[in-house]
Amino acid sequence: MVHHDRSRSFRSTALGCCVTRATKSSRSRRQSRTSDPADYTPSFAYSPSGGRSPVAQSLHCEGVDLVRLAGVSGTPTYIYSRAAIESAYRRLDRAFGSLPHAICYAVKASSNLSILRVMARLESSFDVVSGGELDRLRRIGVPGRHIVFSGVGKTREEIREALRYPGLHRPRGGIRLFNVESAAELDLLLSEAGRHILAGGRRPFGAIRVNPDVLAGGHPHISTGHHHHKFGVDWAEARRLYLKHADSSLISWRGITAHIGSQILTVTPYRQALWRLASYVRDLARNGVNVDFIDIGGGLGIRYTNESPVVPAKFARALTEIVRPLGCRLLIEPGRSIVGAAGVLLTRVLYVKENRGKTFVIVDAAMNDLIRPVLYNAAHPITPVVRNPEHAARRKLVDIVGPVCETGDFLARDVPLPPLSAGDLLVIWAAGAYGFVQSSNYNSRRRPAEILVEGKDFRVVRRRQTYEDLLQGELD
Ligand code: LLP
Repeated sequence: MVHHDRSRSFRSTALGCCVTRATKSSRSRRQSRTSDPADYTPSFAYSPSGGRSPVAQSLHCEGVDLVRLAGVSGTPTYIYSRAAIESAYRRLDRAFGSLPHAICYAVKASSNLSILRVMARLESSFDVVSGGELDRLRRIGVPGRHIVFSGVGKTREEIREALRYPGLHRPRGGIRLFNVESAAELDLLLSEAGRHILAGGRRPFGAIRVNPDVLAGGHPHISTGHHHHKFGVDWAEARRLYLKHADSSLISWRGITAHIGSQILTVTPYRQALWRLASYVRDLARNGVNVDFIDIGGGLGIRYTNESPVVPAKFARALTEIVRPLGCRLLIEPGRSIVGAAGVLLTRVLYVKENRGKTFVIVDAAMNDLIRPVLYNAAHPITPVVRNPEHAARRKLVDIVGPVCETGDFLARDVPLPPLSAGDLLVIWAAGAYGFVQSSNYNSRRRPAEILVEGKDFRVVRRRQTYEDLLQGELD
């Protein structure tokens, strides 16, 4: 069912070698607190490459030189490492050991079909929040039992599509879990389920998203688990709905869910939220509603600059301790921690200019390509793709800005960089999650290309948009 298209595969002729796991991990242990993203980002490393100064090194993703990638696909381009995605998934999966669990990759973090295929090959499950995300999974043959559907505003049409989503053995088997976020959404789900069952479909499996009233998350815009946020319902309301529909022929309660925020850097809020969910699971059981799934959402943070994220083993230990005694199966919905560090944005310097002592480096990527800096004040490290140690001492503070006509169009402010000139390549780190997917066509700019690196090979997994693409759907 899951296909792999290698037709647009390229072979790298880069002289640089692959970063071996051993070299990289021993180096990152030694230098884990350096501020150089190449030291703490798996699968990316500076290596010598032929043809330039003997001391210069260029950034490689796995076995592929980014200078070469820029030549093939132009800039700006998102580059992802398949090995980095796989190892992030496997590390997290292994950390949970024998606890019955499933990782439901949050499609919203990066939804390119080729990345979803990488996840499907790992036998990941998926968390979707729209009909569009569901459609992507259908196209690559993900079975319904691997899908949970979250989201505060599911439409009737989306609910219908999810009810009819093909299962592995049942053509209309539906998805694993509807994460219901309100009484009104439940009414809609029940009415659609009635029709679906009459037409021969299966009773849907449901969970209620409880708002656990816990504050967590790296930025106010991405914190979701507090009572003043729009997500989920209070326990009192959730309890009422579970009990009211305990014996329903239209829904089968299978789980309980919460998602408390994103870029979370400690286990404390997870423990708080999970303790609450655990007490609700026990309360439900006492009242005859036995749920099998406890879904704690996503949110694990990553290192952008100097954060110290929770390591998977510690995360898993904290969750397991609470979930194991319940006998439930744990679902987690990570997005950022799977793909965040696995992707970078490659850009080229267009101009350098000085205004009253301040230096602006104008690059060909802009806020429409990566909105995180202006939207969340997010800090993504930026380094030159070709690094010459002789230039390191001449670093000075510059602003990296794009061509869009807004002061908010910056990618980094006051970052120390060596002297740059037009044509130089820069890399914007940790852009694999919420990068391309939040891009837009603002200023009638074409969306960037995306490349997936696999060892010494790479594939263009999304071509750069053309001007014709920009007019698609427009009626003149
Ligand atoms: N599950 C649900 C229900 C979610 O709403 C989210 C993210 C996730 C899972 C995945 O969370 P993660 O593991 O990636 O933190 N655009 C923002 C992030 C928004 C996250 C929204 N929900 C950013 O660029 O930081």
